[in-house]
Amino acid sequence: MGVESLIARELRDLGAEDVRAENARVLFAGDEHILARANICLRHAERIQILLGSFHAETFEDLFQGVKALPVEDWVGKDDAFPIKGYSLNSKLFSVRDCQAIIKKAMVERLKTVYQVPWFSETGVTYQFQFSILKDEVSIVLDTTGSGLHKRGYRLQANDAPIKETMAAALVDVARVQNYHTLYDPLCGSGTILIEGALKALNMAPGVNRHFSAEQFPQISADVWEEERERARSLVDTDCSFHAYGSDIDPESIAIAKENAKRAGVADRITFEVRDLKDFEKKSDRGTIICNPPYGERLMEVKEAEELYRTMGQVFPRERGWASYIISPSEDFERLFGRRADKRRKLYNGMIKCQYYMYFKTND
Ligand SMILES: C[S@@+](CC[C@H](N)C(=O)[O-])C[C@H]1O[C@@H](n2cnc3c(N)ncnc32)[C@H](O)[C@@H]1O
Repeated sequence: MGVESLIARELRDLGAEDVRAENARVLFAGDEHILARANICLRHAERIQILLGSFHAETFEDLFQGVKALPVEDWVGKDDAFPIKGYSLNSKLFSVRDCQAIIKKAMVERLKTVYQVPWFSETGVTYQFQFSILKDEVSIVLDTTGSGLHKRGYRLQANDAPIKETMAAALVDVARVQNYHTLYDPLCGSGTILIEGALKALNMAPGVNRHFSAEQFPQISADVWEEERERARSLVDTDCSFHAYGSDIDPESIAIAKENAKRAGVADRITFEVRDLKDFEKKSDRGTIICNPPYGERLMEVKEAEELYRTMGQVFPRERGWASYIISPSEDFERLFGRRADKRRKLYNGMIKCQYYMYFKTND
């Protein structure tokens, strides 16, 4: 999705080993502390999974035998539930439902032998397995996250088109927001970019206040989670001058943004107000602007979105100490904004292919 290298860097900083960024996933090694830490601290990843095994499969028999060889009993106890979901792309085994059934059967067969029981009640802890089959290469993973990591817990309310928290964090990271910076989002909606900016600046772990499915696993002691939450809390550093300014034309969005910032514990670092983009106002000598403007799907809305891009080009400061970062799917953005970006980076906002247009050079 364009953020794999950012996740790899975060993982190395957290102490993970053998970190390897691939397309749409990042592999790493570590103990249960690293697993808990990754869930609690990673800002851009969606899910932490344990890779049980990978193998080549072109037939159902290959798939059955490959799965049967995996030590699922290391995780699944005799009363536990083990649902399976997954997907297949560009592979001979393309029927997801059939693959799902075969994988389940292979696991059941293995567990029957291990536990010497004829059937499974599946009433205990849930171990959610996921398979992916890409070009006949099967990976079987065990989910440890539960609801996606973008669900930090602070955004109970969102406006119409909120950006995912993980993507907002990526925008902040690529813009190299520091704890002495002043951050602006003049199209802030529910405030996600600014909240993620504040969490990053204050070194607050995004997942510290939520729960993960692996907390139910008896293999990982509750102390591990406790210690990792404590570690994360001890690293919070509020001794900095970071402040953010958010505005939006929609009063309801601003009310939601204020609530969200409060729940995220960063309300004192962000000032929100109702304001039209065309009246953008500097509140500091230097600043970093990050925003995701409306994209416009219908013709009328496209025209409105284009008008906003033009307005941005007019009102965003260009002098020394200022930088602007805008994510947009429009290939025409630079022309409308009135300047070629100093740098562009391809990012996916959900399923929409976008460019992150970066303006940080000054003429003087
Ligand atoms: C794609 S949304 C931003 C979503 C935001 N990043 C979030 O996480 O919720 C675009 C926002 O631009 C706002 N907007 C549209 N026209 C505007 C204008 N002229 N001035 C200020 N805000 C405007 C909309 O109200 C909307 O909240």
